[in-house]
Amino acid sequence: MGRLQGLVSVVTGAGSGIGRASALAFATEGACVVAADLNFASAQETADRIEADGGKSIPLQVDVTSPEQTGAMVQRTVETFGRIDVMFNNAGLPQAATPAEDTSDELFERIMSVNVKGVFNGCRAAIPRMKAQGGGVILNTASTAGIRPRPGLAAYNASKAAVISLTKTLALELAPYRIRVVSICPVATDTPMLPTFLGADEAEGRKRFVATIPWGRLNRPEDLARAAVFLASPDAEMVTGTAFEVDGGRDV
Ligand SMILES: NC(=O)c1ccc[n+]([C@@H]2O[C@H](COP(=O)([O-])OP(=O)(O)OC[C@H]3O[C@@H](n4cnc5c(N)ncnc54)[C@H](O)[C@@H]3O)[C@@H](O)[C@H]2O)c1
Repeated sequence: MGRLQGLVSVVTGAGSGIGRASALAFATEGACVVAADLNFASAQETADRIEADGGKSIPLQVDVTSPEQTGAMVQRTVETFGRIDVMFNNAGLPQAATPAEDTSDELFERIMSVNVKGVFNGCRAAIPRMKAQGGGVILNTASTAGIRPRPGLAAYNASKAAVISLTKTLALELAPYRIRVVSICPVATDTPMLPTFLGADEAEGRKRFVATIPWGRLNRPEDLARAAVFLASPDAEMVTGTAFEVDGGRDV
């Protein structure tokens, strides 16, 4: 029996990288998966892969910056699968290293809107359902950037620190309702997002990042997927409010 057998999950950013790997892992462990992404074709591909493997999944096009759309996402989840047990707010945007004074209003606001408000929207949409059901798990993708920042990423780092604080607040607020809230903090991870962080010389950027990770390699999306399975599962019953680092020792 899978570790998430019978649970109903929603994953945002499920069309790529960490979100897709987590959606596939959730399904392998027995969960139904709503694969949500701004890019519908990519969400569809994730859902198709799950169904082809014998799992249950539907794709949804969702812009997490819209409270109407995150509300509709939860509504559709409940209509389709009857409940919502795991809300994984994972969608996010990267930032190319830029001196703070050259960071545009548009970039700052876009990053805050997707990385912070998008996570908040997902939490807020799921909470009433989880309260009514008597429990649930909310996972929010933050980053080592919110704990041990690198220079040049003021907007991104601040957005991820905000996710960590939001998560801790909700963990306290929701513990009486048996809802756990955990942030996951990946170090640099090999996904389509990574090149934006690495800079113009990708090979050199990769070496520079690896040199700061004691374990000696970058994350693979599956490293985060396995962590997310654990955190979503009853095995993690006493884990809430934590900023769960999957970072090969980077933050030590
Ligand atoms: N890759 C890394 O090095 C790294 C490190 C630490 C944290 N993270 C975080 O992990 C999460 C996943 O990133 P990834 O590396 O898998 O990136 P990715 O670019 O592979 O995937 C991100 C997904 O989010 C979707 N998305 C973007 N904006 C959206 C919106 N407004 N609404 C819905 N979906 C939207 C994209 O379409 C994409 O499919 C992000 O929150 C990111 O900040 C990534």
